[in-house]
Amino acid sequence: MIRRMATAHVTADPGAARTLGEAFRALDYSEGAISRLLGDEAYAGDPEDAPVAERRLPQTELGTVIRAFFLQLPVSRRAAGAALGRRGLAALEATGLAEIGAEVVPRVRILPVGDLLVASDDFPGEDDESRSDYVAAYTPTSRLLDSLTPRRRVGSALDVGTGSGVQALLAARHARRVVATDVNERALLYAELNAALNGLENIEFRRGSLFEPAGGEYFDLVTCNAPYVVSPENRWAYRDAGFRADEASERVVQGAADHLADGGFATLLVSWVAADEDEPDERPIAWTETLDCDSWILPIWGSDALGHSATWNDHLTDDRARFGAALDTWTDYLARLGVRWVSEGAVVLHRRAGRRFSTRVDEVEEDELEEAGAQIERAFAARARLAELKRRADLLEATLSLAVPVRLEHELEPRRGRVAVTGATLQIEEGTHTIVEGSPRALELVATLDGSARLGDVLQMSAARLGLSETETSQLRRDLLDLSHELLELGALRFC
Ligand SMILES: C[S@@+](CC[C@H](N)C(=O)[O-])C[C@H]1O[C@@H](n2cnc3c(N)ncnc32)[C@H](O)[C@@H]1O
Repeated sequence: MIRRMATAHVTADPGAARTLGEAFRALDYSEGAISRLLGDEAYAGDPEDAPVAERRLPQTELGTVIRAFFLQLPVSRRAAGAALGRRGLAALEATGLAEIGAEVVPRVRILPVGDLLVASDDFPGEDDESRSDYVAAYTPTSRLLDSLTPRRRVGSALDVGTGSGVQALLAARHARRVVATDVNERALLYAELNAALNGLENIEFRRGSLFEPAGGEYFDLVTCNAPYVVSPENRWAYRDAGFRADEASERVVQGAADHLADGGFATLLVSWVAADEDEPDERPIAWTETLDCDSWILPIWGSDALGHSATWNDHLTDDRARFGAALDTWTDYLARLGVRWVSEGAVVLHRRAGRRFSTRVDEVEEDELEEAGAQIERAFAARARLAELKRRADLLEATLSLAVPVRLEHELEPRRGRVAVTGATLQIEEGTHTIVEGSPRALELVATLDGSARLGDVLQMSAARLGLSETETSQLRRDLLDLSHELLELGALRFC
């Protein structure tokens, strides 16, 4: 079936989209090429930067395609034909992704994301110009969800609120089959078009709200970059789900758990409210504590009611009166709900056999976060092993090794003519880049764990080498156990 997007003339013609994708790839239209020609900040640019960026582009076939589909500027028909070839240009016309006359005028933006191509609506327009069913490309939250998704091979995956389809496309490369859902018909059209643009044939698209299109099916992977914004409006499908306070997020967490197969993972980008900013995470803790899953809550952003209202009405800042009115409407809404603090972040779930499940909370810095899927898998595998221990101290019988590069830093202070070590931190050098504090001696010891001896033996050997007293050895034992538990749960240590 060929779907047609009523107003934008875009058609999910799979054959034409596949041909077009091949023409783009033949030119190396990729993230790497764009960074090389326009600089590393090119992806953070907006339409106002286009006049500068276009002057950096070479007069080549690749330059033409970047000009048209990355910067969204018209190019001559002759240049487009030279770049895409006759078949490519015909495919462009068939998909409706550009208006073709004497000039080729792009109707959409096509972003390379890794080695995928993702078509979506243009740069976000001004408030009144942008439509409620606007479909975004690869936003900062799309990147966060992507970075926090385990990428092992699986049988099935479900992407709820697929938008441009980017998470479904990413999953389609390591899942046998993917189901992608959205309430927004335009989003599904883009997602379908994008699957074809990338030659992916294992994604099924279903329209409906949240988990309703998933029926009674179970999946090995669930992803959802939810329309999670706590908002009094129904302005944009991608932002406002139309539920009260953080109810959309609560439903997403519960729904993901309900559709998770044994051994499966869910990565969900959601938000949650709090009446007390000193206890910001009570609600997701309560949501996850009743699930038959281990869960990991990763707060990324937090703001008070006014800060939250300002962030999500940023597009109005040029119009003082409208911006002020929106702030009043939003803060009144939050005050009526008793909300003083709003957090946004990820909830990761893992379903496993067993009965003792746990929830943990770790803040994540957006700018520090890198690809963390493998770390997440290790962290949950370690938690399953820890849940089997009868006593905390049984960990001394285990053999552990460091699973990631780490950086150990000491705090030094001059004291009575000598330099004393007053503290230390260990930073995980990949994934979440979490920093752990601890006693310098215990941190030094865990940083040397290489799977060659049991933890208890490592402790005894170190105590003997340092000539520690019995009291000092007991202290080191407690610190080492605490730290090993912590680093196992963070995926920085692994059981051998
Ligand atoms: C923040 S966007 C995420 C898009 C994409 N998955 C990504 O990661 O870039 C949220 C998506 O949820 C969709 N959505 C909104 N309400 C929904 C609902 N009740 N059920 C399913 N999807 C919904 C929106 O249309 C939008 O595509």
